[in-house]
Amino acid sequence: MSVVVEAVDLRKYFPVPRSIIDVLLHRPREYVRAVDGVSFKIYEGETLALIGESGCGKTTTGRLLLRLEEPTSGRIVFMGRDITRLKPRELRPLRREMQMIFQDPYASLNPRMRIGDQIAHPLLIHKLATPREAREKALEMLKRVGLTPPHEFYERYPHQLSGGQRQRVVIARAMILKPRFVVADEPVSMIDVSMRASILDLLESFRREYRLSMLFITHDISIGRIVSDRIAVMYLGRIVEMGPTEEVIRNPKHPYTRALIDAVPSIARRKRGKKLRIKGEVPDPRSPPPGCRFHPRCPFATEICRGEEPDLVEVGRDHYVRCFHLLGK
Ligand SMILES: Nc1ncnc2c1ncn2[C@@H]1O[C@H](COP(=O)(O)OP(=O)(O)OP(=O)(O)O)[C@@H](O)[C@H]1O
Ligand SMILES: [Mg+2]
Repeated sequence: MSVVVEAVDLRKYFPVPRSIIDVLLHRPREYVRAVDGVSFKIYEGETLALIGESGCGKTTTGRLLLRLEEPTSGRIVFMGRDITRLKPRELRPLRREMQMIFQDPYASLNPRMRIGDQIAHPLLIHKLATPREAREKALEMLKRVGLTPPHEFYERYPHQLSGGQRQRVVIARAMILKPRFVVADEPVSMIDVSMRASILDLLESFRREYRLSMLFITHDISIGRIVSDRIAVMYLGRIVEMGPTEEVIRNPKHPYTRALIDAVPSIARRKRGKKLRIKGEVPDPRSPPPGCRFHPRCPFATEICRGEEPDLVEVGRDHYVRCFHLLGK
């Protein structure tokens, strides 16, 4: 299987704005280490779910892959080509191969443009169709994503649709270019629960048809389980566990992964024994704890965890964990 996108030791440090007092007192500039040394590959036709609590760096990782954010260091390889330093002009032809679907469909649509025109728009920008052909393709796409009758929907504006319908428009617009790689950032978290399954089915049908590769970002491990082939769990800018989805869910080795799973009743119910609960909040990413970043919240932490950071090591077939005290040993 060929690798479509690869992150190599990616980092993104955001400078924290300084007050005039900070400047006058020569206080050193601080950085939020949003993404701090992340590496993974996504294969053709594969979905990798990126999971973790709010603020752990999921969205920033997705934006880095699409070059919507400049990495502080590290590399991004797309279809065998290093795209880390490409200039906007050089990136333009690649833009049609890589798309992003955001959490809030309303914010990602233009309120003053008919939805049919918004779906046709990418074809015109990339000069892949005449206006007439683009309109035909947009109508086909409307039908394909279940917005029928398409002629009627073509004329509507975003505010005339429900949240679920709007996300269908966003998906249609992303898919009309037949991309190779899509970052879907919490695509159903703002959608009514009753509509979620059908939106996920729609994404899945495109994935199969186009052999799409996808980074599916979610804080909800039960959604990650449904949609993905592999799972990567992120904590404070780092991947702490990564592996085949069912293997990670059934046999989590990192306490943080285990706690995320135990917090979901429908998955945890099948397991015997005590549930693992973690306390407290994610620490400030400006000054992550020394040693293992999870140690202040970890019930298994010992002396070594406070002093040293564990490496991400392979503990089973394609299953990687960053922990000194692997669970279930
Ligand atoms: N443009 C920015 N400037 C400064 N800090 C930023 C910027 N974007 C993100 N951050 C910070 O980087 C960290 C990671 O943010 P990110 O949005 O990637 O997390 P996330 O895992 O997607 O969270 P959520 O689940 O809330 O969407 C956070 O501390 C956030 O405040
Ligand atoms: Mg996010």
